[in-house]
Amino acid sequence: MNTIRLAVAAMWLASLGACGSVDEVADNAPDAGQQDSADAGVQADTDAATSDSPLNLPDTPFNYAAIDLPAHFETGAVRAQDNTPGDNPTTDRGATLGRVLFYDTQLSANGTISCASCHAMTDAFTDTAQFSLGFDGGTTGRNSMSLVNSRWYANGRFFWDERADSLEDQVLMPIQDSVEMGLTLEELVSRVDEQAFYGPLFQDAFGDSEVTSERISRALAQFVRAMVSYRSRYDDGLVQVNGNPNAPFPNFTAEENQGKALFFSPQTNCAACHVNNPPPAPGQPPANLAVFYVNIATNNGLDVDLNVSDNGIGDRTGLAQDMGKFKSPSLRNVALTAPYMHDGRLATLRNVVEHYNDGVQAHPNLDGRLRNPDGTPRRLNLTPAQIDALVAFMRTLTDTSFVSDVKFSDPFVK
Ligand code: HEC
Ligand code: HEC
Repeated sequence: MNTIRLAVAAMWLASLGACGSVDEVADNAPDAGQQDSADAGVQADTDAATSDSPLNLPDTPFNYAAIDLPAHFETGAVRAQDNTPGDNPTTDRGATLGRVLFYDTQLSANGTISCASCHAMTDAFTDTAQFSLGFDGGTTGRNSMSLVNSRWYANGRFFWDERADSLEDQVLMPIQDSVEMGLTLEELVSRVDEQAFYGPLFQDAFGDSEVTSERISRALAQFVRAMVSYRSRYDDGLVQVNGNPNAPFPNFTAEENQGKALFFSPQTNCAACHVNNPPPAPGQPPANLAVFYVNIATNNGLDVDLNVSDNGIGDRTGLAQDMGKFKSPSLRNVALTAPYMHDGRLATLRNVVEHYNDGVQAHPNLDGRLRNPDGTPRRLNLTPAQIDALVAFMRTLTDTSFVSDVKFSDPFVK
């Protein structure tokens, strides 16, 4: 890297001054020891961009495809949950194009919002509002979902009601949604085609510069699948005890270890859904020890019956046994993804634990893991200190390296 370029980058950084947003600064600050992004060093225009390019991309693409994961991710069980299709493997250049599309406000009808408007990096790719604002001021019907570790949602279905058959299908749906972004696929293709900087990015990703909605979908899906969170204090602790979640973690406080023990205990059954669903093969660690998904949509007792506006999977299939069942996002970074549940009804993690403690409703489809042997909803009888401990444990899933990683940040120069 030559010194002139460094000096220019430093001046540019300084010129951001007080008005530079966190994203902009993160995009240009020397990397704080993050192996994956460090290689690319200080950012400069690529050959994809001319001097007046609106983009700030590294000369060498960031590493999205070959990240070094800790041992608990490198298991057969985790690999078996990977929903990456054979014809759309994540590549560094494909994910780079996906990153630009993800932050491009031209993908909405009036040029005001992008995917990132409702999936902000600093909020672990979700929205702090209960319902998100679309391009024309309308609101979404559900709470924005965290995109973390989407790569390993085993059945490969997306949305709270799992209506998208694959991530490739999902990523084109918000663009066409009349509240969210409001474009037709034809309009989408011409919006992208009109912007000169995209040609070289398509060329790099797909071998030639042709813009199609299928390529847009594939690039966006690659970028979302690259959003892997594996550098939390929980990960450090699990590595230190050789992958045994029941051992106290040396890097945890006593309260965090107490919360972890409660989370994995039959008393709360939290892990029975959020980690062990389905139960792992004998002698195998569950995949969700790393990923933190409930693999099957379930009913966790938010409502007492079917007389509500949103019955999740049931509204889609029309089947009685699906009413009130929802996908749960990964609990990775959950301390950053408030408010909680499909309708964002619970404001804090403490509210969530209080729901499981004494608020679970006797819905006809309430999952067995939240019922007493006689079928009534379980009450956990947690003390206030135990509730605090569970919250403290969930906070250890926050991955500050992930939510500040330059490779996921806004590449547009503002
Ligand atoms: C106006 C706000 C808004 C915009 C813009 C938006 N989303 Fe979303 N996103 C949401 C909401 C709300 C949900 C949950 C909707 C539901 O389940 O019905 C969601 C769900 C998702 C999911 C499903 C996650 C899962 O685990 O099932 C993915 C993936 C996703 N969005 C990606 C994107 C991408 C990619 C873009 C840009 C092309 C985008 N979103 C644009 C609000 C938005
Ligand atoms: C029966 C399976 C099941 C059990 C047991 C369970 N959960 Fe959940 N959890 C879910 C489902 C399903 C959702 C999403 C429900 C919805 O939004 O409709 C969810 C949502 C959550 C969320 C909110 C996620 C978000 O992004 O909005 C948190 C946090 C959470 N659970 C923590 C816990 C804790 C802590 C426990 C133990 C006290 C627990 N869960 C027990 C199934 C379960």
